Amino acid sequence: MGAYKLLVKGAKQVVTVRNDENVRVLRGKEMQHVDIIDAKGEDGVSILVDSNGRIEFVGLDSERVSKYPRSEDEAEQVIEAKGKCIVPGLVDAHTHPVWVGDRVHEFAMKLAGASYMEVHEAGGGIHFTVEHTRKASQDELYVSFSKRLYDMMSAGTTCVECKSGYGLDTETEIKMLKVIETAKREHPLTISSTFCGAHAIPKGSTAEKATEDVINNQLPAIKRLMKEGQLHVDNIDVFCEKGVFDLEQSRAILEAGKAAGLQINFHGDELHPLNGAKMGAELGALAISHLEEISEEGIAAMASSGSVGVVLPTTAYILRLRPPPVRRMLEAGVAVALGSDFNPNAYCMAMPTVMHLACVLLRMTMPESLIAATLNAASALGLSKDYGSLSRGKYADLVIIDAPRWEHLIYQFGCHDKIIDYVIKNGHIAHTKYECCG
Ligand code: NIG
Ligand code: FE
Repeated sequence: MGAYKLLVKGAKQVVTVRNDENVRVLRGKEMQHVDIIDAKGEDGVSILVDSNGRIEFVGLDSERVSKYPRSEDEAEQVIEAKGKCIVPGLVDAHTHPVWVGDRVHEFAMKLAGASYMEVHEAGGGIHFTVEHTRKASQDELYVSFSKRLYDMMSAGTTCVECKSGYGLDTETEIKMLKVIETAKREHPLTISSTFCGAHAIPKGSTAEKATEDVINNQLPAIKRLMKEGQLHVDNIDVFCEKGVFDLEQSRAILEAGKAAGLQINFHGDELHPLNGAKMGAELGALAISHLEEISEEGIAAMASSGSVGVVLPTTAYILRLRPPPVRRMLEAGVAVALGSDFNPNAYCMAMPTVMHLACVLLRMTMPESLIAATLNAASALGLSKDYGSLSRGKYADLVIIDAPRWEHLIYQFGCHDKIIDYVIKNGHIAHTKYECCG
């Protein structure tokens, strides 16, 4: 074994996001620029990774050679990145990736004018996926989930949040969380897992009964498995929405989750302005997602609580919703993050596409959207101590792009696979286009 796991050298540009490992989140105006180390003529940029997969050094090749003269011989792997750009591994702060049974037929219905809630109330939407997911075995769910994780990784994602929520009963919610648990052990991606038993009201039940079931049955069963070491769940989620869980039911579920040691990270203010953001901020939520209908009060509350706003441009795009007021949120000093919201309604798992949509639909700049898809997304999951920027001591999660400037990753809409040369996870090559394309 070499002293170093990996050396990447000769790069044209390395976007560190922030050179300082102590920066854990960026808010409002701080999101206006990213730190970049540029090559000086022939003197490219190096990233040296220690044997634990953490960054030992990032800076000019010449500096690396003088500080670590034997680094090239002592590295297990060397990647020549001449003319290429490097950004941190992307972090997807919101996904629903464990399910079987797609909903392509509903896409046609929505294109013909049906709204998300009309499809849902007619027994489709989440209900359709619940029906199929309840019938599937743990192994069957794992096969499709694991394939999706590899597809996410090939699009540059190195950390991802994954929710349950297509069971809505104790047995199936646990089955989904066990599927995620297996991937936590076996898959190279870093996964933050979320219990979302309150994703919808099960058919034949009521919001009151479902709230009670989540708090008194599902959560205690999960807590037991966590205590036994069989599950390691990170977050609690609820779909706080008119016709689903109201503000008080959502508050009760989130408080119960918090008491069980979970981080609060939930769906709020998506379709109707319920003031979910304000409620979440009061509870000290780590993150709140969607926020298309956030109020001015909610924005102020999130700015002062420090809860990260996870915006999901694919959902606003597919459902033709009014996009979340991200510019207002940034002006007020909210930390904004991005997620793909991958689910059978919004079938997009590529964070480069998500960043592009964030720029065009949400009017974010390219630096803002990269920060939102790296450091701030890691912060929304409580992972930014170790992930989300390229500074000494953090894990070496990298995307190496064959393009003259990093912005090509966002600009080359829908064809990021043509320019992603390598995805590096903890200093290992997790994906390379060279293997599949020769
Ligand atoms: O974030 N809004 C609620 N949940 C998901 C959609 C899940 C589904 O439709 O299957 C979302 O968009
Ligand atoms: Fe969602």
